[in-house]
Amino acid sequence: MIPVTKPFLPPIQVYQYFLEGIWKRQWLTNMGPLANDLEMRLKEHLKLDHLLFVTNGTVAIQMAIKALELQGEIITTPFSFVATTSSIVWENCEPVFVDIDKDSLNIDADKIEASITAKTSAILATHVYGNPCNVDKIEEIAKKHNLKVIYDAAHAFGVEINGKSIFEYGDISICSLHATKLYHSTEGGLILTKSPELLKKLAYIRNFGFDGPENFAELGINGKNSEFHAAMGLANLKYIDSIHKKRKEITERYDEKLQNLKAVRPVWHKDSKNNFSYYPVVFESEKLMLKIIEHLKLHEIYTRRYFYPSLSNSLPYVKSESDLPVTEDVAERVLCLPLYHDLTLEEVDMIARLMLRIQNN
Ligand SMILES: Cc1ncc(COP(=O)(O)O)c(C=O)c1O
Repeated sequence: MIPVTKPFLPPIQVYQYFLEGIWKRQWLTNMGPLANDLEMRLKEHLKLDHLLFVTNGTVAIQMAIKALELQGEIITTPFSFVATTSSIVWENCEPVFVDIDKDSLNIDADKIEASITAKTSAILATHVYGNPCNVDKIEEIAKKHNLKVIYDAAHAFGVEINGKSIFEYGDISICSLHATKLYHSTEGGLILTKSPELLKKLAYIRNFGFDGPENFAELGINGKNSEFHAAMGLANLKYIDSIHKKRKEITERYDEKLQNLKAVRPVWHKDSKNNFSYYPVVFESEKLMLKIIEHLKLHEIYTRRYFYPSLSNSLPYVKSESDLPVTEDVAERVLCLPLYHDLTLEEVDMIARLMLRIQNN
């Protein structure tokens, strides 16, 4: 069986080494030494001054909206994971969808201004599959209209633009460290900001708003993560280069073998490089895609329609929006192929061969 993704697991001895420390200290959570060490190492790895290790990517988005005190309307993309939109609604704001760009599959920055109203407080955009949004244009619009910017960078671990971390853009970025991500801590997330004031506020929010044992500085939540999750993050960080290398090889092999597939790949930001977090293809037609999905299943090869359906007309708690032709069209034809660290090149060849055979039959 070939799943669409598989979590990376470090050698068990490496994880055990960290567990023994937890047993010795008997410090299980509440920003223990492993969580602090993970934050420090991730700052080094990502060349960043600030970040917070939190429960997961979803809570990170909610904390970001809370910290920026957003109200009213938030402009966002309908082509993302449900947590991008649900977090806006959870924080009592209203999502306003803007269509995506047909090449990058990110929110179309040229269409944002037309959706800004007196009630707009922010733009929440996703770097889809790790591919950076048009960050310069979004920054320009945000400045002009005095809006905050949050990036859902759940897929974008390790992505840089012009040698600078993608996490440096926007007022706040968030990343997911969920088990299915290329770098993970089982469950987990990161909040990133360049602002020391925002960082301080977010640190209060992460810990129930506590400022010392008897004082409260903010309305907070439990956004902390445990020593066990930090241990997985620390163990996996040792292997990040080899994970990256392996995923790059797989991606390049798919590129080579699927040249004649009746599908296109998203166009990557010209100043950035792929982090190989997913292998999406947009088929010529939904019919061809469905035929390929079914046939691969017969061979126990599993793909994922990601993201499908569009968030703009599938959530019962959001007003349905149908004037998003690019999103609706792409969501119907996009498919992520299997991609994980120990997928072999022979397996990639087999998947590609089967896909082309079905297409040409
Ligand atoms: C684009 C996007 N945003 C947010 C999330 C939520 O992250 P988490 O699962 O860590 O809560 C995900 C998770 O898959 C995601 O893909």
